[in-house]
Amino acid sequence: MAGSLLHSFATSFSSCSSSSSSRLLLSHSPPSLFLTSFRRSAAVAAPGVRFSRVLASSSSSSSSSRSPLCYRRGQRRLMAHSIARATLGLTQPNAVDVPKIAFAAKEINAVEWKGDLLAVGVTEKDMAKDESSKFDNSLLKKLDSQLGGLLSEASSEEDFTGKAGQSMVLRLPGLSSKRIGLIGLGQSSSATFAFRGFGEAFAAAAKSTQANSAAVTLATTDSISNDSKLSTATAIASGTVLGLYEDTRYKSEGKKPVLKSVDFIGLGSGAEIEKKLKYAEDVSTAVIFGKELVNSPANVLTPAVLAEEASKIASTYSDVFTATILDAKKCEELKMGSYLGVAAASANPPHFIHLCYKPSSGPVKTKLALVGKGLTFDSGGYNIKTGAGCSIELMKFDMGGSAAVLGAAKAIGQVKPPGVEVHFIVAACENMISGTGMRPGDVVTASNGKTIEVNNTDAEGRLTLADALVYACNQGVEKIIDLATLTGACVVALGPSIAGVFTPSDDLAKEVFTAAEASGEKLWRMPLEESYWDNMKSGVADMVNTGGRQGGAITAALFLKQFVNEKVQWMHIDMAGPVWNDKKRAATGFGIGTLVEWVLLNSSS
Ligand code: BES
Ligand code: MN
Ligand code: ZN
Repeated sequence: MAGSLLHSFATSFSSCSSSSSSRLLLSHSPPSLFLTSFRRSAAVAAPGVRFSRVLASSSSSSSSSRSPLCYRRGQRRLMAHSIARATLGLTQPNAVDVPKIAFAAKEINAVEWKGDLLAVGVTEKDMAKDESSKFDNSLLKKLDSQLGGLLSEASSEEDFTGKAGQSMVLRLPGLSSKRIGLIGLGQSSSATFAFRGFGEAFAAAAKSTQANSAAVTLATTDSISNDSKLSTATAIASGTVLGLYEDTRYKSEGKKPVLKSVDFIGLGSGAEIEKKLKYAEDVSTAVIFGKELVNSPANVLTPAVLAEEASKIASTYSDVFTATILDAKKCEELKMGSYLGVAAASANPPHFIHLCYKPSSGPVKTKLALVGKGLTFDSGGYNIKTGAGCSIELMKFDMGGSAAVLGAAKAIGQVKPPGVEVHFIVAACENMISGTGMRPGDVVTASNGKTIEVNNTDAEGRLTLADALVYACNQGVEKIIDLATLTGACVVALGPSIAGVFTPSDDLAKEVFTAAEASGEKLWRMPLEESYWDNMKSGVADMVNTGGRQGGAITAALFLKQFVNEKVQWMHIDMAGPVWNDKKRAATGFGIGTLVEWVLLNSSS
């Protein structure tokens, strides 16, 4: 069996039984060949005490707690071969701080605001002018008269019409703000998605003018309901943080953003909006964490490092989290032959990650699981990715589902919703090629006993998810969402910015679409067409893992369904398109916002 080959890949991690009420942390001395650059500490929990793995020197003392994957080797001596394994190419990420901006909500007159940059969000309608080229909009009219008509003149000359993404920044005397910016909102759109984009354009303007302090307002605020004001401010705040952040960890020189404070004017003030802005900050920080995980190259972010990052979340929020990391041996005991088959070719051993969130007080009403595909690299295996457009060099992003799940965990640790238990599950590994690897035509056996003929080693994500889904069902959860960069077919169907959603449950679909609306992420429901299962029949095993080119995203989803208990509400999200922004050559952090909103919907807050 494929799993037995993995004996030799004993990992350096402790394995914890997820069924026992107390979890034992064992410190193995790692086999030298697979030493990573982290040292683990030993800790034993008292019976009944939940704890998470405590991290030793490298991650707790010399790395930034805010920015992940910033480890320094520092004072410690490492054996030469261990360096070769853990720091292939000698790359050590630099520490980059998450932009720290003080957000405040104020009800003041925008014209009188003092600071570096006053940005006004304008729709195309707001830009309407009368016969004498004067603005109809009252705020723009006021600003224009303070500036002696230069604002209307400049907007005409610059051809600024308020289109989404358009911006114009002027430095003019006559205002208490040093600069004034007009930023386009397009056609009176009110969707979260549009305001996130607006926040990003605002951040770009603040960056290019080196503003320290800035204020945001909208030309038209009186017609907006109170609820919309709150969600608008949240979306702009998220867009601002994410627009300001640049992942320069792997560049020899980084830039530091200078923006320190942002005032929201005319969107309300007081405790409610302050709480929303704090939420936006928590989620954005988690999105940045997720982006960093995906951007990290596969020589740095191995399955062990991903597990280490997960453990760090648990130790940071040890009041609500426990971490269980299973090594290959433990996974073999759990009969995860499908997952271990994929992992078998790699010199970087698999790590099965399970974080559990439980509120520190109060009853738990709902139990949820989030499962993420965690392929730190996908070469395709023996069905190697070749040819133009196969994007093998981008396949570090094949752990985007796990980044969404762990990013959500980080935000949940910060927000601490009551009444809900959440399991975060990732079967992390690498799909490589070697003499110990899985061959096309091999039959693997998943932990629910089902057998799979691997007719294509490049359809590996579903093989890892099969065992992860069985494990999730065994946690006694009512609802499961899995996220995965699963198929190129889904990218062909929906393009680069929309994720495909598959679920037999209309109720769950409703919940998740509500959550996605709030987060501003784009999802589209796809059919689970049962008749296509015909393509997944095998001559030797219960099923094959690949059903051919036609309807590839659907047959992949039908495959996953084989590993989910029918009593559990389940959804699969194929995020192969939206995980990555080709233009920016960077990860998007997709999924985190929606997952956090969904968990909150299921909480009693
Ligand atoms: N990780 C890929 C899917 C992928 C492809 C994501 C392109 C993003 C961009 C996945 O493991 C894969 O290789 N899927 C195959 C499945 C096929 C062999 C049935 C695919 O989509 O080609
Ligand atoms: Mn693949
Ligand atoms: Zn893959």
